[in-house]
Amino acid sequence: MKTILITGGAGFIGSHVVRLFVNKYPDYKIVNLDKLTYAGNLANLKDIEKKQNYEFVKGDIVDKDFIDKLFEKYKFDGIIHLAAESHVDRSITNPTEFIFTNIVGTINLLNASKNSWKDNFENKRFYHISTDEVYGSLGKTGHFVETTAYDPRSPYSASKACSDHLTRAYFHTYKLPVVISNCSNNYGPYQFPEKLIPLAFNNIKNNKPVPIYGKGENIRDWLYVEDHANAIDIIYHKGINGETYNIGGNNEQTNLNLIKKLCEIMDLKLKRSKGTSGKLITFVKDRAGHDLRYAIDSTKIQKKLKWKPLVKFEKGLEKTVDWYLENEAWLKNVTSGSYQNYYKQQYLKR
Ligand code: NAD
Ligand code: TYD
Repeated sequence: MKTILITGGAGFIGSHVVRLFVNKYPDYKIVNLDKLTYAGNLANLKDIEKKQNYEFVKGDIVDKDFIDKLFEKYKFDGIIHLAAESHVDRSITNPTEFIFTNIVGTINLLNASKNSWKDNFENKRFYHISTDEVYGSLGKTGHFVETTAYDPRSPYSASKACSDHLTRAYFHTYKLPVVISNCSNNYGPYQFPEKLIPLAFNNIKNNKPVPIYGKGENIRDWLYVEDHANAIDIIYHKGINGETYNIGGNNEQTNLNLIKKLCEIMDLKLKRSKGTSGKLITFVKDRAGHDLRYAIDSTKIQKKLKWKPLVKFEKGLEKTVDWYLENEAWLKNVTSGSYQNYYKQQYLKR
């Protein structure tokens, strides 16, 4: 039986990856290590928490001694590393936390893998999950390919870029069997409502203004989270050591267009007359250093590993709205308490 460590498995993308692996591979033991920060939530995994091949461990990847002991105890065959501070706006107000978790946390895991495998890397794998934001900001044309030079422009993307470089350095220096993927913006169930889509959903539902930074002209390439989890499964099993794979939805949307689509769906679902939700759209002060456009060229993973996104954006957005409507208690729970302070700090003076 293989034992695989998934870090950050109680977060948004991590919970989808844990669910997929636990259900699809009963002969793997999946250990989910998560600190349960504001973004981590065990309610995301209620449906699989009692499965025989699943175990949750609460802990911090920044704590080197704890990580070393964990690796000694479980003797992992593979690591899928998703744990991170993940929100750009929080990285602008409090960058230091991003350095600890995203950089120090990653090197702790790289070192623990290297030491526990004692240079015998056969059938071992360290998979680092990253973002397209490391490539910087595009103008109106062009796409990020795997060889695009790194040009991170927020503390979040700079910390992720550093962790990517470290992971690659361990491949070149120690031959650690690593793979890396850089994915575009994800959306779907269980996303914390600090990110654009669930935040807008929550505000529309509660008849509150929907804050659009600047003029809403910034472009992101959106991918349904289950398509990302499938790509992670394929890369974990079939990716080539030392390689990087870009993952994207081939689905560019300006923020304004996206929110208009969301408003249309919400009008229908909430039986509001056409145009009601759209009236909540409010332009607010732009994000500092706001990257204009991200767009991924995912030809490599499509050709070499035969992955492609399956969920069309309109369908995925409707599925997402349905999920949030059906899971009101989940949203209520994560928006009580500290979320209210975060929201005030981030938006009231904008
Ligand atoms: P998230 O913020 O929803 O979840 C992060 C998880 O990591 C949480 O469960 C949190 O408790 C845990 N965590 C944070 N600090 C930790 C620590 N020190 N020790 C242990 N656990 C810790 O993030 P997400 O959106 O699911 O993103 C997951 C990964 O995917 C991140 O590495 C992110 O950079 C990357 N990514 C995200 C997107 C996106 O659109 N969300 C796109 C591309 C790549
Ligand atoms: P976000 O979901 O934070 O993801 P990222 O910054 O990693 O791309 O933001 C997506 C886009 O939406 C980004 O261009 C910033 C914008 N945005 C708003 O206009 N208003 C908001 O309240 C938020 C959270 C984001």
